[in-house]
Formats: sequence, structure tokens, C-alpha cells
Amino acid sequence: MTIKEYVKEQKTKLKNKIGGLKVPPCFAIIQVNDDEASNAYIRGKMKDAEELGIKCELIKLNPQTTQAELLKQIDKINNDPKYHGLIVQMPLPKGIDEEVIKFSIKPEKDIDGFHPLSSLEPCTPKGIINYLIETGVQIQGKNALIIGRSNIVGKPMAKLLLKQNANVTIVHSKTSAEDMKFYIEHADIVVVAVGRKFFLDERFNYRKDAIIIDVGINRVDSHLYGDAKPGLNVQLQTPVPGGVGLLTRLALINNLMEAYENEIFNN
Ligand code: GUN
Repeated sequence: MTIKEYVKEQKTKLKNKIGGLKVPPCFAIIQVNDDEASNAYIRGKMKDAEELGIKCELIKLNPQTTQAELLKQIDKINNDPKYHGLIVQMPLPKGIDEEVIKFSIKPEKDIDGFHPLSSLEPCTPKGIINYLIETGVQIQGKNALIIGRSNIVGKPMAKLLLKQNANVTIVHSKTSAEDMKFYIEHADIVVVAVGRKFFLDERFNYRKDAIIIDVGINRVDSHLYGDAKPGLNVQLQTPVPGGVGLLTRLALINNLMEAYENEIFNN
């Protein structure tokens, strides 16, 4: 099943479920920057919310906002039971410490899954693993290679793949070219998140039945490119755009639903 088909099916289920709720789930997005990429991501999240009957409030702050002012705004939402979830759109302007901000969001409302005490998983790895599981990709005992070791993709992706009993390897910018080639050529599942246009191309010999999950979003001359060159000789390669981004958005909604249900259960 393609990602588009899968996401459509999952959204139909969510829409039906949300339609039957007395109080709709509600989340806030705080935006401090005004960059084009963030505007596009936020539009996507708001579109999903509207389509599914979820309330979403965008709180747009001036880019000159200080860290103290931002913390005050976060505190207000943390303490307002109306909101089940809160996103602070990254990146933040210089002078605001992203780590301090991430940790200031109440873990129960942290639908990005950034807070170390949040029970929710970061959206991109969560979206990917759910797609693999629900479309019947065998993970147990397979060689899963993650290229890139970021806190929001690489590291949590490793944890989720391990939980599914894959043989997990992480390679990164300090891996030698020779080892990189070795690991890529022995991988059954490759998750590539390096932020380099077409980092994976015909230089490598992939396993014929390999699956490439492309997390790359590289903007070049106002076009979007993945980290993998389209049309590689593998069993499945996720497209960019229209691939992992959709899974990430779906996982965000699923995190919101979990936060919503936990809130109701605990009160
Ligand atoms: N900026 C780019 N991606 C994300 C995301 O998933 N969450 C937040 N909060 N900011 C982002």
C-alpha cells in the first residue's frame, strides 16, 4: 500500500472516531519564526486538523519575542485544560534556547514527543514504524540501517526498530566511506535522514528487496528533493514530497489523540 493510500485510510478512521467525541481534541501551535518552511509545515498541520474535526489554534508571536515571554505563553497553555497538545514550531530565533523551550512544555501535552519525560514518541520515527508494521513489512531479524543520528529522527528510530527486533545499525557523518558502502549494501531497511540531496544514488548496490525510507527534505531552487535519488533498484522507496512528511503529520494527530485520551483517563 502506498503512503498516500495508507494515510487516507487512517484519516478516515480518525475522522469517524473524532466525530463521535463530545469534546473535540484541541492543540495549539506557537510560531515565533516566520520562515517559509515553518509556514508550510504549519499549514499542513492545520489542514489535517480541520479535515479531521480537531481544534487547532495558531499563536503567532513576533520574531523579537524574548525567551521569557515565550515561556510565559507556554505556561499559559500548559495550565489551560482546553488544550490537549502544544507544539512550539522549531527553529526558534537566535537568543532563545531550544532545549529550554522543549523541556518547558508539559510532557503530557508534548505531542511532538521532544520532552525526555514525554510518553509520546517523536512523530517521524513513530509514523514510519507504524507504516512499516501496518503494511506488513517484516522487521524482525532484518538489517535496519539508519543514516543520521539526530535526536528527533535517528536515535528514536533506532529505539523503535529495536523494539521490533531488527538488527539496528546507525551510521553518520564520521562513518568512513568504505564502511558506509558496506552497511548500505547489506541493509534490508534503510532510513536515510542526512539532509543531503540524493545522498543515496547508483553509487551503491542495494539489496533487490531493500526498502528505503527517505526522510530528507532538501529545498533547492524552491524544489523539494529527498536524500535518495528517485528510481533506485530496490523493492520500495518512499517518495519526496508525499512520503514520510505525511506519516509524520499522521503521527502528530495520533499523539494528540493519545494525549487527549490520557487526559480524560486521568481526570
Ligand atoms: N520544525 C520542523 N519540524 C518540526 C516538528 O516536527 N515539530 C516542531 N515543533 N517544529 C518543527
